[in-house]
Amino acid sequence: MRIVLMGPPGAGKGTQAKKLAEVFGVAQVATGDILRAAVQQGTALGKKAKEYMDRGLLVPDEVITGIVRERLREINVKKGFILDGFPRTIPQAESLEKILEEMGVKLDTVINIVVPREELIERFTGRRVCEMCGSTYHVKYNPPKQEGICDKCGGRLIVRADDDVKTVEKRIDVYERETKPLIDYYRSKNLLVNIDGNRPIEVVFEEIKDLLKGEG
Ligand code: AP5
Ligand code: ZN
Repeated sequence: MRIVLMGPPGAGKGTQAKKLAEVFGVAQVATGDILRAAVQQGTALGKKAKEYMDRGLLVPDEVITGIVRERLREINVKKGFILDGFPRTIPQAESLEKILEEMGVKLDTVINIVVPREELIERFTGRRVCEMCGSTYHVKYNPPKQEGICDKCGGRLIVRADDDVKTVEKRIDVYERETKPLIDYYRSKNLLVNIDGNRPIEVVFEEIKDLLKGEG
C-alpha cells in the first residue's frame, strides 16, 4: 500500500496517517514531523526549516525532496508507506514520481481529506501535541485521558509553534495557492479519492480503512 494523504492544514492528515500506519503495518512518512524533529535537535536543517515554518511558508522544494528521498531509502517501499504532508507542490509531486520510478514502485492512491476553512480554524485552536512523541490531541474532539498529559508516553502536551491564528491563516492561504493544484494533477492521473473529513475522527478512519482494504 503506497498512498499519499493530502488536504489543508488541520484536515486530519497526521491523525489518520498514524492510525492507518498502525493497522496496516506500513511506515508513515510525515515531512512536518521530520522537520519539527530537526528543529528540536537544532540541526542545520532544523535551523533553516524553522525560518519558513514559523512564518507559515513552505520549506524549499529541493530541501524537502532530499529529505523524502532519504527517508524512502530507509524503509521497505515495496511493503508500503503513507506520505503525510508531501507532496505539497507540483514540482514535489514530479520529484516523487521520479524517486518512486527509480525504486521500481508506483503510488496506489491519493486520498484528499476535504474540510471547510471555518472548521479548520476551530481545530487549530484546540490542538495539543506531545512534546515527547508527537501524538496529536484536541481539547474537545480528541482529549487525552488526563489533561495536558500524553496517553501514549506521559509526555507534556503543548501548543505547536505555528498554530497561532495568524500563522494558521497564512498556512491555509499557502495551501490554497501552492498545494490545491495537486488535486487536479492527481485526478488527471486517476489516483485521487476525496474523503469528507468533516466528520468524527473514527468515521473518517473507517471510511479510509475500507477504501484501502483491497490494496496489498
Ligand atoms: P505539517 O506538519 O505537515 O502541517 P500541516 O499540513 O499544516 O498540517 P497539520 O499537521 O497542521 O494538520 P493535519 O492535517 O495533520 O491535522 P491533524 O491530524 O494534526 O507542516 C508544517 C510546516 O512544515 C509547513 O507549514 C511547512 O513549513 C513545512 N512543511 C511540511 N511539509 C512540507 C512540504 N512537503 N513542503 C514544504 N514545506 C513543508 O489534526 C488537526 C487537529 O484537529 C488536531 O487537534 C486533531 O486532534 C483534530 N482532528 C483531526 N481530525 C478531526 C476530525 N475528523 N474531527 C475533529 N477534530 C479532528
Ligand atoms: Zn507522547
